[in-house]
Amino acid sequence: MKNPVRRKKKVPKKPLNITATNSSAHPLSVIRHLSYLRGMSQPLSPEQLLTIANEFGTPLYVYHAEKITEQYGKLQQAFQQSNTRFFYAGKALTNINILKHIRSLGCHMDCSSINEVSLAIRAGFEPGNILYTSNGIAFSEIEEAVALGVNVNIDSLSNLEKFGKKYGHDYPVGIRLRPNIMAGGNLKISTGHGNSKFGIPLEQLDNILALIKQHDLFICGLHVHTGSEIKDVSVFMQVADIFSELVPDFPDVSFLDLGGGFKVPYKEEETGTDISLLGEKVADFLAKLSKTHQRDFQAWFEPGKFIVSESGYFITQINVLKQSGNTIFAGVNSGFNHLIRPMFYEAYHRIQNISNPNGPLHHYTVVGNICETDTFASDRQLPLISEGDYLVFYNAGAYGFEMASNYNARFKPAQVLVINGKPHLVSRRDVFEDLLRNQVEVL
Ligand SMILES: Cc1ncc(COP(=O)(O)O)c(C=O)c1O
Repeated sequence: MKNPVRRKKKVPKKPLNITATNSSAHPLSVIRHLSYLRGMSQPLSPEQLLTIANEFGTPLYVYHAEKITEQYGKLQQAFQQSNTRFFYAGKALTNINILKHIRSLGCHMDCSSINEVSLAIRAGFEPGNILYTSNGIAFSEIEEAVALGVNVNIDSLSNLEKFGKKYGHDYPVGIRLRPNIMAGGNLKISTGHGNSKFGIPLEQLDNILALIKQHDLFICGLHVHTGSEIKDVSVFMQVADIFSELVPDFPDVSFLDLGGGFKVPYKEEETGTDISLLGEKVADFLAKLSKTHQRDFQAWFEPGKFIVSESGYFITQINVLKQSGNTIFAGVNSGFNHLIRPMFYEAYHRIQNISNPNGPLHHYTVVGNICETDTFASDRQLPLISEGDYLVFYNAGAYGFEMASNYNARFKPAQVLVINGKPHLVSRRDVFEDLLRNQVEVL
């Protein structure tokens, strides 16, 4: 590719933070990291979950802080050979206590709305450690993000042009590209393919370069998020190859953001993305790129699920058992208003009857109480269920509570965070007044 952009000598007003590495962690994280290496994080046991359910009621989301620490520790270890920064994709779970815990580990935060940026600031993330990756947003949100001094990735030619007109060379900015790669666990979470709305299509590279030239833009990073639940390391490396090709066209680029999307194992027999292998490959990629261009590059990642999914447990209780032909419906006191992933993405969540974990196995179709088809699991083998039993959905930390709603005028569940074995209520269950809180009674 031809490079129409001359290397800029001017210094932008916003300082670049490309030297920060994962060693910028809070001192406490080192201790936590060591505890991860000693393998101290045990999943919450059925007995612990039962005690918590009895204390706080159900439906209830429970998160395990040590598991989050462990997951971040795995990333640090896998990528220790490379200059890589991790930005937790806050959209997975934004409870302020979770954000504060993640910040204390030394992880940074990726945001998908200006409100998430404000939450990140409230949780204590430094603006330089916050990334706002946009997706079809109003330019006014980009202006707000710039005023707060956070990193921004722009995902449309239209906003890039507005950005150029307003900030020119003064504020370094990243560009979100669409790589035209189909990957991810489900079409609804595949964002990089050729029909996707996300990012600027690669075939519009000339338009991007023309805007850069016209407005003397300072492009400090390139970004691609191909999708969620990507197991295959080679998908990330395909993006790395695209970056290698593009770098000559972007002489100011210092970070290459490969997005999020590491797969976590939802089914017993599944394995997640091999992050150790990915870490090695990214280290090679950065080393080669630095050698070729005689300057340093940083890899950025935005994992959401990988950091919080396995830390989360969703506890429900059986309201009714109903026999219909050969099917036994086990109806829980919840629905897709609280955990939408099975209905939205056909997602699988492992379920356990923690009231009777050793009971004889039977087949159940686990359903919610919402007034549309509301199936959590079809024909699932579970230990004998009685009304009143507690069912736990595992791996529910990411996109669980965060996507919950008050549909059918049901209350959103409470959330509990377990730290060092002690459960803390971190958001209370709705009460009736919450349903009316924003309503304006005109009659
Ligand atoms: C831009 C971007 N980055 C990161 C993520 C996080 O993905 P995951 O939770 O699969 O890691 C998403 C998910 O939608 C995203 O859109």
